[in-house]
Amino acid sequence: MIFGSPLIEQAEIDEVVACMQSAWLGTGPRVAQFERDFALYQGLRPTQIAAVNSCTAALHVSLVATGLKAGSEVITTPMTFCASVNAIIHAGLTPVLADVDSATQCIDPAAIEAAITPRTRAILPVHFAGRPCDMDAIMAIAKKQGLMVIEDCAHAIETTYRGHKAGTFGDFGCFSFYATKNVVTGEGGMIVGRDEALIARAKVLALHGMSKDAWHRFGDQGYKHYQVVEAGFKYNMMDLQAAIGIHQLARVERNWRRREVIWNRYMQAFASLPIGLPAVPAPDTKHAYHLFTIMLDETRCGISRDSFLNAMNARRIGTGVHYLSVPEHPYYQQRYGWNAEQWPNATRIGRETVSLPLSPKLTDIDVERVIEAVRSLLH
Ligand SMILES: Cc1ncc(COP(=O)(O)O)c(C=O)c1O
Repeated sequence: MIFGSPLIEQAEIDEVVACMQSAWLGTGPRVAQFERDFALYQGLRPTQIAAVNSCTAALHVSLVATGLKAGSEVITTPMTFCASVNAIIHAGLTPVLADVDSATQCIDPAAIEAAITPRTRAILPVHFAGRPCDMDAIMAIAKKQGLMVIEDCAHAIETTYRGHKAGTFGDFGCFSFYATKNVVTGEGGMIVGRDEALIARAKVLALHGMSKDAWHRFGDQGYKHYQVVEAGFKYNMMDLQAAIGIHQLARVERNWRRREVIWNRYMQAFASLPIGLPAVPAPDTKHAYHLFTIMLDETRCGISRDSFLNAMNARRIGTGVHYLSVPEHPYYQQRYGWNAEQWPNATRIGRETVSLPLSPKLTDIDVERVIEAVRSLLH
């Protein structure tokens, strides 16, 4: 059982073949359709959206498009994938970490407030595992302090908070369609934004800084000149990727319902084990159920996290670790002098956490096999 294996169906296979037969592989009509479909799903206008080739690219160009001055501080969470922090660094900005809440594993608004300095200009919350951050508190801090907000929605395509979609609270929301995500295109990402002018700038930055994209240049109207108006990046999505995404997105709710069933089965099956389970979703929110993580405290459950990972692997069950906390990595320690003990909740979670398979591809038999394996190792 491969961890995070996507559920690929015939419709996207046929669409990829049709795309190849059309001989238009790059950015074109299928990307335009995927953008329209995603805008509709998120309740946004097509002018508030830009498809790119990863969430990392989405975060990077969003941060550049903010126009923040070099060295401005961006507060983010230590419980995230390194891409969230690297994007801040590559935009010429300085990452500052604020610890997570130990139950929700999302950034703690009180820790954000404590991390604010005169140089703080933005907050980059991560809707961890698909659970929305406390956006009322975060947006109140942002408003009071005049900060921009860039939401990392890599886990959060379906997530809502008090009736609003994740990604639509801040200035930018950045989504991932990486191979293990809730909607996949292999590699892929999407930027959504409140301000159409900022999205337009992000779009230009995502294609070399060119004023018109290749679709407009090489479309039916014949050749169009372009102008380079910024030093941009090569981050555009291809039609080949969008061909997969269009059909994946059409099934997003069906796959979400399947993951919810698996999630609830795990919660019930593990209720009496000596382990930590994910916090129950908060009222008036929708959890995207991207990751199901259990916490293994060796003193309580009698097995170390890493021995558990090895034992699951020996049973041919793929697992994941989301994540070893960011300041555990040597690069950040050396560059910023960070010590993991400064963010105790994220550090403890990073050392105890295990992600179990949660793909909609899992059969009931697969799910029971995971449950039996976990129970046999943790009784
Ligand atoms: C929280 C988080 N942010 C950013 C990324 C980067 O996404 P991508 O692989 O699409 O660049 C990922 C995932 O892989 C992620 O999990």
